Amino acid sequence: SAGWRKRSVVTLWDVTTEQIRALLEVAVFLKKSDLARKPTLYWNYPRTLAMLFEKPSLRTRVSFEVSMAHLRGHAIYLGPNDVGLGTREAVPDVAASLSRWVDIIAARVYQHSTVEQLAEHATIPVINALSDREHPIQAFADLLTLQEFCGPLGNGLKLAYVGDGNNVLHALLLACAKMGVNLSAACPNGYFPDEAYVQEARRLAAISGAQIEVLSQPEEAVRCADAVYTDVWASMGQEAEREQRAKLFAPYQLNATLLANAKPNAIVMHCLPAHRGEEITDEVMERHKASILEQAENRLHTQKALLLLIIGL
Ligand code: CP
Ligand code: NVA
Repeated sequence: SAGWRKRSVVTLWDVTTEQIRALLEVAVFLKKSDLARKPTLYWNYPRTLAMLFEKPSLRTRVSFEVSMAHLRGHAIYLGPNDVGLGTREAVPDVAASLSRWVDIIAARVYQHSTVEQLAEHATIPVINALSDREHPIQAFADLLTLQEFCGPLGNGLKLAYVGDGNNVLHALLLACAKMGVNLSAACPNGYFPDEAYVQEARRLAAISGAQIEVLSQPEEAVRCADAVYTDVWASMGQEAEREQRAKLFAPYQLNATLLANAKPNAIVMHCLPAHRGEEITDEVMERHKASILEQAENRLHTQKALLLLIIGL
């Protein structure tokens, strides 16, 4: 299992290139197989996943829940009002109790330290299902999508990211650097990714041969890109800043003019949910929905692969 077995995935800092390669291989296999229709038991008793969500979700929740159904396991959704993580009960106590019932936890949290604390106090693996710092499982689906549309990872493949230097970009920085994918990001002043992520990506890129750039000019980042990626300007928890950000981020909108700087056959990526007319135009979104929806579909295959690798058999 390439070292995935019983491991937590709190951050991509701790995930190796070999682990990512193995995960993508299993995901490709699962995507081709029709295991959803077969009564095969992928494990010797039905495994259970607890999904702790402090924030809303469509893709993450559904793809985890469907993954567990396909694998003949069971997923338990625990929303913000069910648990009261850190208010009704302390995070270490929640981690300890859950560890006595279920096989694995996925947690979507505001503060990254909450998912770190869960992993520290749980005796079972914990998957970061998005924190304010990172969205590692999104990056797995993104890599699979890139590989499907643009060919093998590495080989000078260039991904451009325009917009907020947020959790999604942090995950992409580490994932691309580990897999030898060139990444050029353009962010407005004051909204650059955390310097620690940029430094780590540069260190990893020196090993993999990838080129990592963090720029201010969106046109420059997008130039000759094979894929162009954007994400919302105001992430969950930043709703109050939405208007102010919309003004500041306007030059970073993924529209036909900006996209014209990429390769003619470049694909468009978006982790979703999208705000059409803000970070991406309705036109670009419609024209490129094949790759964007494949990316959403790939959440299922990569997370199913991840679950199998961590708690399989
Ligand atoms: N991309 C993603 O994580 O989507 P959800 O917030 O809907 O889970
Ligand atoms: N950056 C976004 C990603 C949503 C999947 C957020 O944190 O809300």
